[in-house]
Amino acid sequence: MLNKITVVGAGNVGATTAQRLAEKELAKSVVLVDVIEGVPQGKGLDQWESAPIEGFDTRIVGANDYKPAAESELVVVTAGIARKPGMSRDDLVRTNAEIVKQVATELKRACPSAIVVVVSNPLDVMCWVTKQVTGFARERVIGMAGVLDTARYRAFLAEALDVSVEDIQAMVLGGHGDTMVPLISFTTVSGIPVTQLLDRGRLDQIVERTRNGGAEIVAYLKTGSAYYAPSAAVVQMVESIARDKKRILPCAAWLEGEFGLSGMYAGVPCKLGRKGLEQIVQVELSTGELAALQQSAEAVKQTMALVKL
Ligand SMILES: NC(=O)c1ccc[n+]([C@@H]2O[C@H](COP(=O)([O-])OP(=O)(O)OC[C@H]3O[C@@H](n4cnc5c(N)ncnc54)[C@H](O)[C@@H]3O)[C@@H](O)[C@H]2O)c1
Repeated sequence: MLNKITVVGAGNVGATTAQRLAEKELAKSVVLVDVIEGVPQGKGLDQWESAPIEGFDTRIVGANDYKPAAESELVVVTAGIARKPGMSRDDLVRTNAEIVKQVATELKRACPSAIVVVVSNPLDVMCWVTKQVTGFARERVIGMAGVLDTARYRAFLAEALDVSVEDIQAMVLGGHGDTMVPLISFTTVSGIPVTQLLDRGRLDQIVERTRNGGAEIVAYLKTGSAYYAPSAAVVQMVESIARDKKRILPCAAWLEGEFGLSGMYAGVPCKLGRKGLEQIVQVELSTGELAALQQSAEAVKQTMALVKL
């Protein structure tokens, strides 16, 4: 168990993440920070009052400044605006870059040793903003996207095959956007290649639905974007770090030559442990998958060019 985890942004993703972290007792305390007066305090108190019922001892407190967040070992950044119908994740870039810059400046001062898990969109670019502003090593700035995209892919496959989600192993790589790369060749159902169970046409439909998974929910909600599955995905990453589980999960990592890519964040298989990003696992991809990953990384670079640091 860690001593303290801070979640910046007490909106849908941030607040749900805080509750899930506390329910799993991944830290002694969880601090929720948001700019809106009263919201992190109110949500934090409400969540703490669920502790006697749910049976957790993690204290949750809310604040509008970073004093209570001081010396957090782990920080989740969810501050920023979410998508509205018709918007792409990249449409958020200028607004969220300013917000994330401000948050990263505070974190550098308040939590200089923290591992940061970034969630704000456009994800890969916000990870870069965080890394640049904090000056933290790449081991300590990791982005959440692939775990969520993979969960959506696994859920759709489980539905199509009428099998347990637990038996579906898969990995979605690349940027968190329309160019994400679900790896059909690495998708198995209890070890059985998925291509033996579903025809290519059906698989392609599922891949397409996965790529549009976020937009599908935005279209239903109209006033916000997904947060139940995203917060669950964040907590899976945090758990691997806090408990030093060394899980291999698809996360956004700063690339320094892996997969022939450098100078951008993209989703790749990462080993997460107590030191943060402990290894990027360089799996062998087919020519088509590698080209798709490179195209996805190129799209991230184009969005990075819209941000001035
Ligand atoms: N990476 C992913 O897979 C993924 C998934 C879901 C959502 N997201 C992104 O996460 C972000 C949050 O989504 P949400 O649904 O929780 O949005 P939300 O609007 O419900 O919450 C965002 C919160 O950030 C706060 N905020 C704004 N500026 C701040 C600042 N400077 N400091 C602290 N807090 C600040 C707002 O007051 C608000 O409470 C969005 O950018 C969304 O696109 C990413």
